[in-house]
This record gives sequence, C-alpha cells and structure tokens, in this order.
Amino acid sequence: MADIASPTRGVTCAATLERREEASPGVFILEFRLDGGPPVAQPVPGQFYQFNCGGGREHMLPRPLSVHGVTRWDDEVAVLKFLVESVGWGTERLCSLEDGDEVGLLGPLGRGFSLAEDGKALLVAGGMGIAPLFFLASEMDRGDKEYDLLAGFRSAGQFYRPLSGLKGGVDVYTDDGSLGNRGMVSGGADGRLEGVVYNAVYTCGPQAMMTVVAGISEEAGVPCQVSLASRMGCGIGACRSCVIEGRGAENLCVCSDGPVFESYKVAWTGAGDIE
Ligand SMILES: Cc1cc2nc3c(=O)[nH]c(=O)nc-3n(C[C@H](O)[C@H](O)[C@H](O)COP(=O)(O)OP(=O)(O)OC[C@H]3O[C@@H](n4cnc5c(N)ncnc54)[C@H](O)[C@@H]3O)c2cc1C
Ligand code: FES
Repeated sequence: MADIASPTRGVTCAATLERREEASPGVFILEFRLDGGPPVAQPVPGQFYQFNCGGGREHMLPRPLSVHGVTRWDDEVAVLKFLVESVGWGTERLCSLEDGDEVGLLGPLGRGFSLAEDGKALLVAGGMGIAPLFFLASEMDRGDKEYDLLAGFRSAGQFYRPLSGLKGGVDVYTDDGSLGNRGMVSGGADGRLEGVVYNAVYTCGPQAMMTVVAGISEEAGVPCQVSLASRMGCGIGACRSCVIEGRGAENLCVCSDGPVFESYKVAWTGAGDIE
C-alpha cells in the first residue's frame, strides 16, 4: 500500500459562500467558491482548510475543517464542500454565513488518506467523522473501489441523508437504536473484521471510538488509517499546539504529520481527545 498521502503547504485565498443547507439540527453543508479560480493543489480526502472566522484578538485563531467534497474543480472554477457542526463561536459564525459572504481560507493542509490498490476497504465514521469519510467514500465510488461504510450517530435526527446515495454498503448505528443498529459503531467494526476480508480500515470520529477501531484492526492484521483531531493554532507545523505522542514517544504534529496517521504510529495517550 502507498504511504499516507504527502502533505501540501496550502495557499491563502478568499472564498465566497455559494450554498448553505442544514443537513441535521446544527449541522450545515457549506459550499465555497474559491475566489480567483483553483489554486495548484486539489484537496484529497482527509486534508483540511483553516478558516478565518474573523473577530479580533479573542478569536484570532483560524478553525480547521476537513474537506467534505469537491463540487467542481476545473481550469476556471473551484468549489469545495464542508460539513460543519456549530459548536462554538467560530463554527457558529461560519454556519450563519449567507450566500455571497466571503471568508479567508488556508489550504489544503495536512496529509490525507492513501488508498490501497486492490481489495475491499472498511470505513468507520463516528459523528462528525463522517465529514472526511463521506469524501473518501465518494472518491472510492468514482474509482470503482469496493468498500463498506459504518456510520454512527447519536440518534436518527443526526443521520446524514446523502449517505443513501453512496454505492458502497452503508450500515448505520445509533446510540438509542432510533435508526439502524443500536449501539456503538466500533462494535459493528469488530463484527465486520471477524467476518469479512478487508484490505484497509479508515476511521474518523471520537477518540475513544478510533482507539477501539485501531486496536481491533491491528489485532485482525488489517492496516488502519486514523484521522485525528486536535486543538490547532497555525495549521502548518509552526506553533506546536497540536502535538500528540507517537508510539516511539516522539512528537507528532496533527496538522502537518497528520491529520491522517497509520494507527500503529499513534500512542493513543489522549490523541484526538479535545475535551
Ligand atoms: C483536522 C481537523 C478537521 C476538522 N474537521 C471538522 C469538520 O469537517 N467539521 C466540523 O464540524 N468540525 C471539524 N473539526 C472540529 C472544528 O475544528 C472545531 O469544532 C472548531 O474549531 C471549534 O471552534 P469554535 O470556535 O466553533 O468552538 P470553540 O468555542 O473554540 O469550542 C467549542 C467546543 O468545540 C471543541 N473544539 C475546539 N476546538 C476543536 C477541535 N480542533 N476539534 C474538535 N473540537 C474542538 C471545544 O472543546 C468546545 O467543546 C475539525 C478539527 C480538526 C483538528
Ligand atoms: S497547529 Fe500549529 S503546529 Fe500544528
């Protein structure tokens, strides 16, 4: 399998909101047209952009968001899609933008997922982890690659409807059993890895879930790539605010060494644990 995709340096640009749609309560699909046309690098699944949300000293740090899809990317026009949950000052501002409003962006940043050449993949998403994994699944659809996607939500109200349009097998888990299987999506992954031959596992979601998925994948001998979250400052490897511990006790920058890592490189001592 290829190494985790190389990171890109990203470019600063302005972008204009073209479409905003509420996907579920408090979660919005935002589509931005990059002003001035497409920059050099087209983002790959797992990469992210830093969004300048405005607001003086108190809120000067940009907010990282994974690319959720590429709506259009040609010689003249680049339109990117993001799936954003309004959880605080910055995301609330982004989610209340109106069509035609402008924001400043830096990206694409970080290392994205690398696709295995052959075989079937298992994608495991918990909550907002669906943002990069939906993009990955869409790219797999374009490349006619085989996969199953397990998606976990708190309850039926959070279900992400565009999942129904994917070509791969999609299995839904909810904490309260109001849709699909009742229980944790990591439990579903365990069952799958016992019964089906997968060549790779890709996961994104809460830290506890990714720890379990990484562990069972490693036990099953299936390579696993995890997309981690961390509080970020610069997003480009300069401020060290996103550092986590690697399995060899080395420092790993989530923004520039990741956010996608091979699971065996992560020590899981609070990796991706935001609270
Ligand atoms: C690489 C990466 C990709 C991400 N992709 C997405 C995405 O596609 N969609 C999405 O909705 N969110 C994504 N996030 C999380 C998003 O960046 C945070 O929710 C956001 O920065 C919070 O800013 P705020 O000003 O709204 O909230 P704040 O007021 O700063 O904090 C509100 C709450 O959000 C939590 N929070 C703060 N920073 C982060 C963080 N970096 N990650 C997770 N939780 C955080 C805080 O603990 C607090 O509970 C991603 C984070 C990273 C690191
Ligand atoms: S956010 Fe600054 S080094 Fe990672």
